[in-house]
Amino acid sequence: MKTVYIGTNWKMHKTIAEGVEYCPKLNKIAKDLDERIQLFIIPPYTHLTTLRKETGERLLLGAQNMHWEDEGPYTGEISPAVLKEIGLDLVELGHSERRQYYNENDLDLNKKVHAAFRHGLLPLLCIGESMQQKELGISEESLAIQLKTCLKGVSPDQAQKLWIAYEPVWAIGAGGIEAEAEYVYKMHDSIRSVLVRLFGEAGNDIPVLYGGSVNRGNALGYLKGKNVNGLFIGRSAWDLTKFEPILNDVEDFLKNN
Ligand code: PGA
Repeated sequence: MKTVYIGTNWKMHKTIAEGVEYCPKLNKIAKDLDERIQLFIIPPYTHLTTLRKETGERLLLGAQNMHWEDEGPYTGEISPAVLKEIGLDLVELGHSERRQYYNENDLDLNKKVHAAFRHGLLPLLCIGESMQQKELGISEESLAIQLKTCLKGVSPDQAQKLWIAYEPVWAIGAGGIEAEAEYVYKMHDSIRSVLVRLFGEAGNDIPVLYGGSVNRGNALGYLKGKNVNGLFIGRSAWDLTKFEPILNDVEDFLKNN
């Protein structure tokens, strides 16, 4: 079995002090875990410099967003050059909350993806269909449009440093509906075929993570999908007493597969 990527976006949760308490504990868990599990955390910007000292190869560190320009008149925005200066490993782009509340669109995300590559930051591109698109039976089309637009102009070489998170909008957060594992497999297979169409053989190696109400009860079910390469977890990872059992389950799963 290949590497399994498991990480968490903290969204607007945790103070810096809480992050400083959480990170060394997770780092310690990470160091003892099966090496095939690659962990990552994505805290708010304000925490990153401090938490860089508490993270490393076994526990990668990312930002939740960034601008596409290196500098300019963009009050309140964060430059990719600065994220690089902090020494981040990755940057999350296009989470559905950013699309929903801050009007992020696929064309802007395409500029951000290219900015990430320019600075050697690994983009973790989030895509997902809305409930309306699912009900209309156009989930796969919607995912394909998001991939083709956000990844326009990306070369197969660059694609080797790209991760995708598939998160159905309707499955995310409190009030989200847990997706059926079979549905998740189908969407991941469809995403894989778009990636192969876009990048040829390199498309087979792009990690595609699943996110949206992942918890201890459903995590392994999702991971059984042949094109599910990891999990992107919100609420169930913010408390280590919930997260550690999930990681242990994944470790057992890897031993037996
Ligand atoms: P959730 O969040 O696991 O709390 O649903 C997932 C996400 O928004 O990435």
